Amino acid sequence: MEIVIRSGVALRESTPLLVQWAWEEETLPTELASLVEAGDFKAKPKQTQLLYPRESLPARRLLLVGLGKRGSASADTVRQAAALAALKARELQLESYTTSLPASDMPTALVAQALAEGTLLGLYRFLEYKSNLSPEQTHEVARLELLVEGDTAAVQAGVNVGQAVAAGVKLARDLANAPGNAVTPARLGEVAEELGQRFGFATTVLGKAALQEGGFGGILAVGQGSANEPRFIVIEHGSTSPDSPTICLVGKGITFDTGGISIKPAENMDAMKMDMGGAAAVLGAMHIVGELKLPLHVVGIVCAAENMPSSTAYKPGDIIRTLSGKTIEVLNTDAEGRIVLADGLHYAQRYEPQAIIDLATLTGAVMVALGPHAIGMMGTSQELANRLTQAGEASAERVWQLPLWDEYRDMMKSEIADLKNTGGRYGGAITAGGFLAAFVGDYPWIHLDIAGTAWVESATRPYYSKGATGIGVRLLAQLLQDYAG
Ligand code: BES
Ligand code: MN
Ligand code: ZN
Repeated sequence: MEIVIRSGVALRESTPLLVQWAWEEETLPTELASLVEAGDFKAKPKQTQLLYPRESLPARRLLLVGLGKRGSASADTVRQAAALAALKARELQLESYTTSLPASDMPTALVAQALAEGTLLGLYRFLEYKSNLSPEQTHEVARLELLVEGDTAAVQAGVNVGQAVAAGVKLARDLANAPGNAVTPARLGEVAEELGQRFGFATTVLGKAALQEGGFGGILAVGQGSANEPRFIVIEHGSTSPDSPTICLVGKGITFDTGGISIKPAENMDAMKMDMGGAAAVLGAMHIVGELKLPLHVVGIVCAAENMPSSTAYKPGDIIRTLSGKTIEVLNTDAEGRIVLADGLHYAQRYEPQAIIDLATLTGAVMVALGPHAIGMMGTSQELANRLTQAGEASAERVWQLPLWDEYRDMMKSEIADLKNTGGRYGGAITAGGFLAAFVGDYPWIHLDIAGTAWVESATRPYYSKGATGIGVRLLAQLLQDYAG
């Protein structure tokens, strides 16, 4: 969809659909108030009312969308409302519709960005594998006309950012929604190369031979059971400079997680095609970094492998030597994400970064701890944790910090190797973080466990749909924009 910004006054527009935003406990403009029975529409959050104004307005249809109380609104209020409006326009099979920005105390560019994000993400769907759909089922709204009274520059700037962000989220969702037979480690490598071509990133994709040569024992071990060979992927935007920080983003890219020899139950195993959600978030964020040309040195690192049981698979009891030289005793082949990340996190140290952030669908335990509404966060830098907390609030991809005391790291020590890959039943999200901590040296590092948030069974927000959420992309985009100033 294209978003066209032009000057105009909403109530004077002739349009197939005019969307008007309304605050709870505030009076509607008289032209609108006369159209709705007082009390039927209270402008509660997510409340909508479709009206046919006939001769009282030039617009054919009018959609009132409630925003709730002005005092409790955030950018996400606008994002969610915009998604509802876009979905209604699509349901009505419209070619275009018209709106203006809601009146608010928030900065104009921010509101415009949220409006663009909500609109575009709300319309997201994954239809690639559906045959014989009717024109009604595939109908896309071609255009949103965004009317501005006065200066358009801030609105345009916000919409531009929103469009870039939505494109990054779409990439991440498409990758995580696609099945394991399409998105293999090799395919993730191709996607990285395509991004490199498009945005001028330096791209490195290491295959099995190069991984053996380089000593990437963790990624090789996890991937050795699959005919779809592993890849280690690096995409680099910008370069080291004294005035801009270096930030490494490391993504878990298990393109399918059967559990390996410690095989998972059959029920819901299909969902494990999304076990590359961390990698998808890194690639989506790099898309945005490239599109917005952020003045930062950002290194995207993806550890890609398929975790399969086979005669060549790694086994419980195996001891692996990782890239760092540290050894891991494998107690459960289903705790594979931390093993591939061990190599990626160690590799990140060569950039001497100001921040290392990993994203991983790492543990079922984080779902038990936080449910579907927060990313589990832990790490070694409170300053970086605070930045992410702020970015999480601003983007509505919220994080919640868990402790990472030495005692948790101790739970991952092995009797016969340096580390073991599971730490017992309790505190599973944190012990996984304790394991990862062994591979980041003294660099400021944050681990984001997105296992509970990367996938939804139903649209828990209007701009989500069943399947991949693309979580992490908007969080990283916010964080990186904050770094860029
Ligand atoms: N990919 C899973 C974690 C996961 C679970 C992601 C549910 C998304 C939804 C991970 O590789 C895994 O299997 N973790 C194990 C670790 C355990 C064996 C220590 C888990 O959480 O059960
Ligand atoms: Mn697993
Ligand atoms: Zn996994």
